[in-house]
Amino acid sequence: MISTCEATANIAVVKYWGKRDEKLILPTNSSLSFTMDDQLKTRTTVMFSDKFKEDEFWLNGQKMDLSDKDTAERVVQLDLVREKAGIKEKAKISSINCFPTAAGMASSAAGFAALACAASKAAGLELNGKELSILARRGSGSACRSVMGGFVEWQAGTKSDGSDSYAVQHASETHWPELRNIIAVVDAKKKKVSSRAGMKQTVATSPLYKARMEYLPKLVEDMKKAVMAKDFVRFAELTMRESSDMHAVMLDTWPPITYLNDWSKEIMHGAIELNGATPIAGYTFDAGPNAHIYTTKQNVGAVKKMLSEIEGVNKVIECKVGAGPRYVDDHLIDEDGVIIPHEFIEGKGIVVK
Ligand code: PMV
Repeated sequence: MISTCEATANIAVVKYWGKRDEKLILPTNSSLSFTMDDQLKTRTTVMFSDKFKEDEFWLNGQKMDLSDKDTAERVVQLDLVREKAGIKEKAKISSINCFPTAAGMASSAAGFAALACAASKAAGLELNGKELSILARRGSGSACRSVMGGFVEWQAGTKSDGSDSYAVQHASETHWPELRNIIAVVDAKKKKVSSRAGMKQTVATSPLYKARMEYLPKLVEDMKKAVMAKDFVRFAELTMRESSDMHAVMLDTWPPITYLNDWSKEIMHGAIELNGATPIAGYTFDAGPNAHIYTTKQNVGAVKKMLSEIEGVNKVIECKVGAGPRYVDDHLIDEDGVIIPHEFIEGKGIVVK
């Protein structure tokens, strides 16, 4: 009853920022993203055993407190799996984030997608993409998009039980092979306002949020058309405008939420200048100041040059679109249920200590 899965982060181009159900994690709007390649991956092993007295969660080789509100969703996911599989055994989870040091990246999407896949398989379940997506969603919303590779839509759904709120893949990772995402890290610190708390506050207080809800359904359709046609110019403009729209409702929240810093704004202006009338770089920002710049292979050099002229950029990571989760045999827990000491070393990968 052991399984190990590797899943990767995704970067949204139409953002999820608001829930209609806090407990089931149901969004107020559909969102669209690309799943990233292995540079932003999490490996997670789950083992169920009647020898275990309680659930345990180990992250990057450290035992975490599962009663902490930041880690408690792991137990929600384990309980859902146990209920579906009709088992009672406690579980050990061992997870390692293989992100470049100081990438300043939120790892929750990769982590909860990997956990959904590994836990369900370890419990003997054969879940399809829809079921895995619904399970991952209960960890963090954006994780429901990371159970698939390529270009993915999280369909908001309308049902109160969340049974129609899950991700579907519109195109695989081979659809737009030239597409790149350049991550410009300007701050690697943990964000001050969590996305969970921030989006709740936005829905409750922002008058502009209403306008956003009216504008998004058409944007989702326009974005899908641009991506399916590989129309980069249209795609980049829609992506940048959508990023600004989300950050506008964040600022319109009371008390205001600001995730962008002066370096983020420098990058926005640098990209606008680089683009001129025909965009080659389309930035987007999540709940943090680091830029995710979509571009195409032939323009990677120009984007990197623009970034090299911005003092606050500490690190640049070039990602491709990824294929989604995969199961591997390199477990992080041994057959006796003991956590195997390990660490992630940049350039080497996961190394057993
Ligand atoms: O899934 P969460 O709670 O980490 O929320 C993520 C929200 C954004 O990253 C800001 C947007 C998105 O759709 O990924």
